Amino acid sequence: MSKRSDDLLRERERLAELGGGEARIQKQHEAGKLTARERIELLLDPGSFVELDKFVTHRCTDFGMESQKIYGDGVVTGYGTINGRKVCLFSQDFTVFGGSLSGAHASKICKIMDLALKTGVPVIGLNDSGGARIQEGVESLGGYAEIFWRNVQASGVIPQISLILGPCAGGAVYSPAMTDFIAMVDGSSYMFVTGPDVIKTVTHEEVTKEDLGGAETHASTSGVCQIVYPDERAMFEGVRRLLDFLPSNNLDPAPKRTAADSPERLCTKIAEILPDVSTKPYDIRAIIEDVMDDGDFYEIHKAYAANIVVGFARLNGQTVGVVGNQPGHLAGCLDIAASSKAARFVRYCDAFNIPLVTFVDVPGFLPGTAQEYGGIIRHGAKLLYAYSEATVPKLTVITRKAYGGAYDVMSSKHIRADLNLAYPNAEIAVMGPDGAINILYRKEIQDATTKGNLEEARAKLVAQYKDTFANPYKAAELGYIDEVIDPKFTRTRLIQALELLAGKREAGPRRKHGNIPL
Ligand code: HXC
Repeated sequence: MSKRSDDLLRERERLAELGGGEARIQKQHEAGKLTARERIELLLDPGSFVELDKFVTHRCTDFGMESQKIYGDGVVTGYGTINGRKVCLFSQDFTVFGGSLSGAHASKICKIMDLALKTGVPVIGLNDSGGARIQEGVESLGGYAEIFWRNVQASGVIPQISLILGPCAGGAVYSPAMTDFIAMVDGSSYMFVTGPDVIKTVTHEEVTKEDLGGAETHASTSGVCQIVYPDERAMFEGVRRLLDFLPSNNLDPAPKRTAADSPERLCTKIAEILPDVSTKPYDIRAIIEDVMDDGDFYEIHKAYAANIVVGFARLNGQTVGVVGNQPGHLAGCLDIAASSKAARFVRYCDAFNIPLVTFVDVPGFLPGTAQEYGGIIRHGAKLLYAYSEATVPKLTVITRKAYGGAYDVMSSKHIRADLNLAYPNAEIAVMGPDGAINILYRKEIQDATTKGNLEEARAKLVAQYKDTFANPYKAAELGYIDEVIDPKFTRTRLIQALELLAGKREAGPRRKHGNIPL
């Protein structure tokens, strides 16, 4: 190579790497944000990044744009590795036209998404953008739609992860919304369809950017975001760990990790965790951690619908998706938010062949007009649908209560769970004793009230009901529970079942697609 062509390449590379220039890089740092390239360095294995389309420029000639061309056009795209496994990514560069999306910028993202889909590797989007490039008008909107369409093509084929590291507004939010996981940085990222100014004009509401679409809002109120990190570095560490649980695509198995933990280890803590009184709360996470390899549980969607817990863990090295009712919040009942949260997670695991382990302690659906008017029928049906349609190995452990419709929904035998276990203290019935005796013994209760011995009569009726129904044995007699086990054998039994079910194949009826109640 001649010195001249070598110099030319170096100069172009230098310009591309400078993005919007020193001053804008400094502004980015002053805002507490890293640059697009610094982020890639931290996310990927050192030195593994291969950049593509470094010299792409926009094609716009309006508003004097022909004289403002910057190599790369506001997005860095390419591939590399995370813990040795290939990933494709794009990282928007806010220093170049505010990371706004031009036709060329969109084409770069589409190209890397196509490559990821063709090669079966996850795609990670690092979003930091002012949205549609205003100077390009409809070309930019077309670019977004091309990305949206690809998000849908890739859905269920390769993991798609969106990292929100700055603004993400307008229709631009819909690409992350169609990916599998959205992670946000606390304090420096926000997502909304219309910003505070438009809201003020239209509805006269006053709201800050942070309250409207900050990480906390989306993690706990809207449920749009699954994971919040305190800063960018923590995010990249966390995402590297998340990817370790996931397969690269829907045909590959999830990576197996050797655990320090023996498959035969007894779960000695569970008996202590379970309270003597069946109405007393406890933290289901403590049981999950006692069962899973090395007590490692990667919880997602933690701040949203805390009455259900979802996340990834491993059993004898194999990734499993864990769903657990949380008796420590709203008694673990199912409501609109919990049903939608768990349904989405169940569908993710099923799409990527990740076996499901469900811990059940559910008193039923949350009653009330807010739930009924909000559509608990429709939303609860999502979870029922998701479990019923899932064909991955489904293992269920009833740790305490399994009442009413929620018993059916929570990975019961009847919707084709493969292994259903219950602890000896499990209560499986249409409803809890107090509600049941009010209906079954209305007359006796009225008589007792008249006679003034209500307390005593109720206690007797509750005891009678509990003897008959508030135990796992009716279900076990019917074969709805495969085994009533001592909690200490939970880990062993689940691992044995996973080994047996490794070759599970289940095909449903031929159809275009089902019609999940959305
Ligand atoms: C072109 C843009 C831009 C955009 C920002 N810039 N957004 N250029 N198109 N959409 C440029 C600015 O001109 C500026 O250039 C640089 O990026 C940094 O922007 P600042 O405003 O200085 O930064 P900051 O104060 O941090 O504010 C960031 C911001 C604000 C909140 C994102 O820039 C903003 O409100 N931008 C417009 C957002 C927007 O309305 N986008 C369209 C949304 S609708 P210089 O040269 O001064 O550094 C949409 C539709 C998608 O996206 C539809 C999909 C279907």
